[in-house]
Amino acid sequence: MIELLSNRRSIRKFTTEAVSDEHLEKLLAAALLAPSSKDTRPVELVAVRDKAMIETLAACRDSGTMPLRTATLVLAVTADTNKADVWVENASIAATLVQLEAESLGLGSTWVQMRLRTNGAKSAEDEVRKTLGIPQNYGVLCLLAIGHKDEEKQPRQLDAADWARTHKELF
Ligand SMILES: Cc1cc2nc3c(=O)[nH]c(=O)nc-3n(C[C@H](O)[C@H](O)[C@H](O)COP(=O)(O)O)c2cc1C
Repeated sequence: MIELLSNRRSIRKFTTEAVSDEHLEKLLAAALLAPSSKDTRPVELVAVRDKAMIETLAACRDSGTMPLRTATLVLAVTADTNKADVWVENASIAATLVQLEAESLGLGSTWVQMRLRTNGAKSAEDEVRKTLGIPQNYGVLCLLAIGHKDEEKQPRQLDAADWARTHKELF
């Protein structure tokens, strides 16, 4: 597990090779298996592979969307805010598990934030809701840009500064 966590890096450049149906099912399964508050299971995902639609999604936010340019699969991570007050936590866990499953399948991914982000004066979250027909009561946490890696990144190494962020018994 630690090796997987070290190897997972944000990949922002992807080849044109499509993500297979089999891999897509596994990525979705990872999200569905995530724990949730009071077992409310509020998280729902929208898988998008259509290139034109992915471009429209990239235009929903004014910056930070570079990974969507070459992604061959985008998963919109949403959650029913009526089902869980802590929907952000639930959706974050699901998104993280998807990213780890992607790494375990040899795929690359990057979290592209949409919640609290903007498109000019408009909300990026609203723009994604409009684009994908997501109901108003669903929060849109992020778009996961996924695909076959077209860049190499070194595994993450822990140094003294990282360990200084851990405390034993008291802060
Ligand atoms: C909550 C969150 C929001 C992020 N938003 C974006 C984003 O909008 N665009 C982007 O390219 N990367 C985004 N990232 C990826 C981070 O920039 C990346 O995880 C960080 O730089 C560490 O690099 P690593 O993932 O390779 O370890 C986000 C990551 C998290 C956890």
